[in-house]
Amino acid sequence: MPATETASALLGVYKPAEPVFTGGEGCSLIAEDGRRYLDFVGGIAVNALGYGDTDVADAIRGALDAGLIHTSNLYRTGPAGELASWLAAHSFADRVFFCNSGAEANEGALKFARRWAQGRQYEVLAFHGGFHGRTMGALAVTDRPAYQEPFRPLMPGVRFANVGDVEGVEAILRTRRVAAVIIEPIQAEGGVRVVPPAFLAALRTLCDEHGALLVFDEVQTGLGRTGTLWAHEQAGVRPDIMTLAKPLAGGLPMGAVLMTEAVAASLQPGDHGTTFGGGPLVASAALATVRKLGADVFLADVRRKASLLGDLLGALALRHECIRDVRGAGMMWGIETDNAGAVVNRALEAGLLACTAGADVVRLLPPLIVSDDELRRGVAILEEVLEC
Ligand SMILES: Cc1ncc(COP(=O)(O)O)c(C=O)c1O
Repeated sequence: MPATETASALLGVYKPAEPVFTGGEGCSLIAEDGRRYLDFVGGIAVNALGYGDTDVADAIRGALDAGLIHTSNLYRTGPAGELASWLAAHSFADRVFFCNSGAEANEGALKFARRWAQGRQYEVLAFHGGFHGRTMGALAVTDRPAYQEPFRPLMPGVRFANVGDVEGVEAILRTRRVAAVIIEPIQAEGGVRVVPPAFLAALRTLCDEHGALLVFDEVQTGLGRTGTLWAHEQAGVRPDIMTLAKPLAGGLPMGAVLMTEAVAASLQPGDHGTTFGGGPLVASAALATVRKLGADVFLADVRRKASLLGDLLGALALRHECIRDVRGAGMMWGIETDNAGAVVNRALEAGLLACTAGADVVRLLPPLIVSDDELRRGVAILEEVLEC
């Protein structure tokens, strides 16, 4: 039966595009009619290594050959521990909790912050323009009234401030009710808005002064997307907690909450849990993925290609008045223009997958393995379909 017919039983919370994809290779997706699409969405920043990475496939095959897909966290397996050690060795963190998605990672971060604060402080400060997921806690700290309204009442105790408003943040933290401040170093869904490094540094200082934890949501920016392993490295600011997901397990669902020993010390067995988190199959895929994404030469190449993509988009903006701004880092760029959705639809027809970030930003998230030629080809297709 054609996939379009069999899909009718799927819950209609998405409006998927027309093509039905049956294969992938490198930075391309292949539809059932054989047409190839250059993919600058990458499964929404998940497929950092593109499609068909042989190391990830071998790691998955290795776990399958061992017969070990899942055991639960009641038992020990090798890959989760090894992955946690890798993440700790390559970050500020001492301890790692594995889960299954970005939203679940943020739920964990909110709970861990509350536990750390021992009820002394229970509020969470989040930011206008931020996005942290669709589950009830993550939704409560997400600044999207349209997503929130139908589901009120939300988790109480959430305050919002504007990015850049140091005084506003200080006024809220001075109340000593805030357990955690959560922010994306680059607001991704909110329009690819780079948070100024000085503001992240100010948050660090204010959190220290007022006894709150600083949580960086690097679900979308983490693991090389911005040209360094963690986006926050570029600001020289360390969080107390960091959440990860999207590219972590090479396309398999996995999230992680990284934290300092000071946070971890407040958590006891039974305080939190998840059946699937850190299973041997996903953790094996993740180990293969992070070893590639974390290699210095790999990251240096992402930075080199980022400057090419930035130049190409900058030149595009100069040629087209309808582009109001281009901004981003690494392989994460936003093009601000009217009617971004229509541009994305025309790009699809022309063979390029791009996505939106709000109504007026076309977002590009190519796999980090994208070639110079593919970047040029993608921007050329965008130029064809801009219509201005
Ligand atoms: C910054 C950020 N945090 C959290 C999430 C939620 O992740 P997930 O869809 O895996 O729950 C997303 C998803 O786009 C995200 O971009």
